[in-house]
Amino acid sequence: MISLIMGLPGAGKGTQADLIIDKYGIKHVSTGNIFRGAIAEGTELGKELASYMNGGNLVPDELTISILKEELSKDEYKAGFLLDGFPRTKVQAEYLNQMLEDMNLELDNVIYVNVSEDEIMGRLTGRLTCPNCGASYHAVNVPPKVENTCDKCGNELITRADDTVESVTNRLEVAKSQTLPVIDFYQESGKVIEIEASGKSVEAVFSEITKSIG
Ligand code: AP5
Ligand code: MG
Ligand code: ZN
Repeated sequence: MISLIMGLPGAGKGTQADLIIDKYGIKHVSTGNIFRGAIAEGTELGKELASYMNGGNLVPDELTISILKEELSKDEYKAGFLLDGFPRTKVQAEYLNQMLEDMNLELDNVIYVNVSEDEIMGRLTGRLTCPNCGASYHAVNVPPKVENTCDKCGNELITRADDTVESVTNRLEVAKSQTLPVIDFYQESGKVIEIEASGKSVEAVFSEITKSIG
């Protein structure tokens, strides 16, 4: 299965992606997680990525596409993948279309997690993230079993550098102007599974996704 998961920042893409990949046996590809991995390594590339990401601006298309291309060339993605956070611009969507065509692959579905903007700020300013495996938690909504510790890998949880009120406000503006039009573009293909997720629990959203995918 080749799938995309899309939605505004904080819609729950990463949370649902972790559940989807377990159930369908495919790999999770989050451009945000890949970029944060490079930042943690402290390389020049990491410094460049942080200069865009910390304030909530997009990484330029050319750089994003070259990093994703290298990642997807690995054998582990041959059995399918779930892209989270890509494509975010029309240029990226056009690149993905061409890449899939060249590889003779077809996109199966686009999962659009639709959450009201009102809910997003509270979700992101309360979020706790695992810097090792990328899992997301929330201090109130989705607490880890042991305080400040990742359920999956035991690493200490942190607050992401871009989960400040200023950065979230900018991320929302960027997503509305650049990424919502990409979702509209996929609507025309008839492959979009739209999940109304406002006010619903993680389990309820996941159950709706699996019912739609089959
Ligand atoms: P990225 O890492 O993709 O961040 P994002 O799109 O802003 O989305 P988030 O990861 O913040 O939210 P999410 O939807 O995954 O929500 P989560 O499951 O964590 O990108 C970061 C940056 O990298 C970008 O700003 C950009 O600079 C750069 N970048 C990445 N990709 C790029 C690209 N393709 N092109 C250019 N630049 C790119 O959940 C959020 C919170 O809500 C958590 O606390 C969670 O526990 C909680 N929660 C989840 N579900 C529920 C629920 N049902 N009820 C209550 N709480 C819930
Ligand atoms: Mg995420
Ligand atoms: Zn972890």
